[in-house]
Amino acid sequence: MSDSLTRVLVVVPTYDERENLPIALDRLREHVPTADVLVVDDGSPDGTGELAEKIAESESAAGSPRSISVLHRTGKQGLGTAYVAGFGWALERGYDVVVEMDADGSHRAQDLPLLLAALDRADLVLGSRWVRGGKVVNWPLHREVLSRGANLYTRIMLGIPLGDATGGFRAYRADLLRGLTLGDVASQGYCFQIDMAWRAVRAGARVVEVPITFVERELGESKMSRDIIVEALVNVTRWGMHERSRQVAGAFRRSR
Ligand code: GDD
Ligand code: MN
Repeated sequence: MSDSLTRVLVVVPTYDERENLPIALDRLREHVPTADVLVVDDGSPDGTGELAEKIAESESAAGSPRSISVLHRTGKQGLGTAYVAGFGWALERGYDVVVEMDADGSHRAQDLPLLLAALDRADLVLGSRWVRGGKVVNWPLHREVLSRGANLYTRIMLGIPLGDATGGFRAYRADLLRGLTLGDVASQGYCFQIDMAWRAVRAGARVVEVPITFVERELGESKMSRDIIVEALVNVTRWGMHERSRQVAGAFRRSR
């Protein structure tokens, strides 16, 4: 990573990740000791938010080189809005780099240095399961089919040449985030990932994919739901149609 990108914030959204969060925070400290962390917790009934506060306090008392902060939101409001809140928090505090990472161990902290290094030549680095060298471990077949299908549909509808536009392990230059109007991001669920990749591509950003190994969680449950899939399908279709009609209108204008 270049010298000017020194202040890194890892945003970790949580909903009922009490068992997973401490492990994820330990791994992060081991592999990227100076990256600060912001946990965005949606009032997890299992007390993840309070646990995060406790870990933050004990680390700070022990003189840790990183800070852990917690943003508490009331009730489950979706992964997309959690990240938008986290990004706003990061930009207000002048971070250079903002990372998205799950709390459940699926995103390996040891892959993060590779993502950060690739920011040398990119504005957005996607940790990608579906490029050469990328892997998925222990995923049920239906999730793999869904993810590959969602990415194929995204490539067809939006025409973006990305292997994995739906993944949730990525690093943004703060300057890119500052240039994307985050206030009008309406994607609540996991289609937020596609939304952000699509916005970055349209903004002319350099988007680079780095292979990662995605390991399915061993503890707790995925929050993927039918509503999240429907939202993604509807939005990608809508964005694709809009893009097509823009292209057609452009072709007519040129032919006149
Ligand atoms: N604050 C908050 N609010 N956090 C949430 C919410 C929410 O509404 N929903 C999920 N999370 C948190 C989880 O606690 C976890 O840390 C992370 O977001 C990912 O959620 P999972 O439920 O574990 O997602 P997944 O494993 O099914 O899906 C992963 O792969 C998808 C692509 O296939 C994620 O990385 C997605 O971002 C990705 O799109
Ligand atoms: Mn998961």
